[in-house]
Amino acid sequence: MKIISIVGARPEFIQSACVSRELRKKHKEVLVHTGQHYDYLMSQAFFDEIGLPSPDYNLEVGSGSHARQTADILTKLDDILLIEKPDCVVIRGDTNSTLAGVIAASKLNIPVAHIEAGERSFDKRMPEEINRLAADRLSDLHFCVSQTAVEHLAKEGISNSVHWVGDVMYDAMLANLPLAREKSKILSNLELQAKSYALVTVHRAANTDDDVRLRNIVDILNNAPEPIVFPAHPRTVAALKRCDLSFSNNVRLIDPVGYFDMMVLEENARMIATDSGGVQREAYFLSIPCLTLRDETEWLETVQVGWNRLVGVESHQVLSAWTDFAPPQEHPLIFGDGTASNQITSIISSFFEIADQKV
Ligand code: UD1
Ligand code: UDP
Repeated sequence: MKIISIVGARPEFIQSACVSRELRKKHKEVLVHTGQHYDYLMSQAFFDEIGLPSPDYNLEVGSGSHARQTADILTKLDDILLIEKPDCVVIRGDTNSTLAGVIAASKLNIPVAHIEAGERSFDKRMPEEINRLAADRLSDLHFCVSQTAVEHLAKEGISNSVHWVGDVMYDAMLANLPLAREKSKILSNLELQAKSYALVTVHRAANTDDDVRLRNIVDILNNAPEPIVFPAHPRTVAALKRCDLSFSNNVRLIDPVGYFDMMVLEENARMIATDSGGVQREAYFLSIPCLTLRDETEWLETVQVGWNRLVGVESHQVLSAWTDFAPPQEHPLIFGDGTASNQITSIISSFFEIADQKV
């Protein structure tokens, strides 16, 4: 069986390595990089580090408006799907690459498997929410990280093709953390002691494109009660420049880091404050208290078990949580057991075996 896997943005590269490894044991996988992320530190660094196979195609679409980026991926992908004629297309998450992938494949009647299906913020102003709704509606197989995601899909009338497999991000962390601990020199390079700093990431459009929210975030970080390490997404760097904002000496704004360095920074942080979906979950995998700088989160389970607090970006609220927040002792397994990639491969294989028998 031939499978086309589509990746384009940082978390998709990280999620894909384990899935590719499993898929390639049984099937031919063709990897398509849309080029949505393209800076070395946002893209190639992950291929070099975690053994994701080189892409068979790079569409090199680069940045642009949502419409232009999605349309560019869509037309280029259409050509590739017609040449490669895959049996199945695998998409993940909620990016513009995900959206273009599901539209291109489903228009050609190629079955689509969606990893990280059923996540919802219930806020359609968020571009990712639109991408998720479309991806789930059009996909043929849905792989969910949590039971909550399964329930969201059921409420939308999608239940036949839904599988709770856990989080491929957890597979990635289990596979890479020991090597990251061995190889990363980030703590000594930044002269950091374990548990002596907070790690911050911010990149969501809702925070970077809204000047008031961005100013609030800068104000919060400048007044935080401990040193901060902030690997900044290029979108955030551009937004800070646009608003002419700068940080106090307390905040170390650094370039995006590789996955190994990021895991080591996360594991050794006293606390994490973020608007990233992946980082919220990784904070949980590593038992690090997390403040989420958003008004809602898809990863409600982490909030419900008390390890993540949704604090928004109002200075008073965030800074009081910064000092008060203490998660409980209990730390249940809510994102599966780290075998998501293996389960996804088995389910895709049997889906096609059954389909073949029906022909
Ligand atoms: C995208 C996803 C978001 C995901 C994030 C992961 C969509 C709609 N959003 O957001 O869900 O959480 O990726 O990081 O798909 N840029 C560079 N170099 C790069 C990539 C981006 O400079 O290599 C800058 C460009 O100015 C670009 C901006 O970042 O316009 C935003 O990039 P884009 O891919 O459109 O969205 P993200 O914010 O990265
Ligand atoms: N990440 C990284 N380096 C960084 C920032 C994030 O390797 O400088 C990793 C992080 O550990 C997680 C993933 O990127 O695995 C999350 O990506 P991002 O925050 O860009 O997107 P989201 O998860 O919000 O879609």
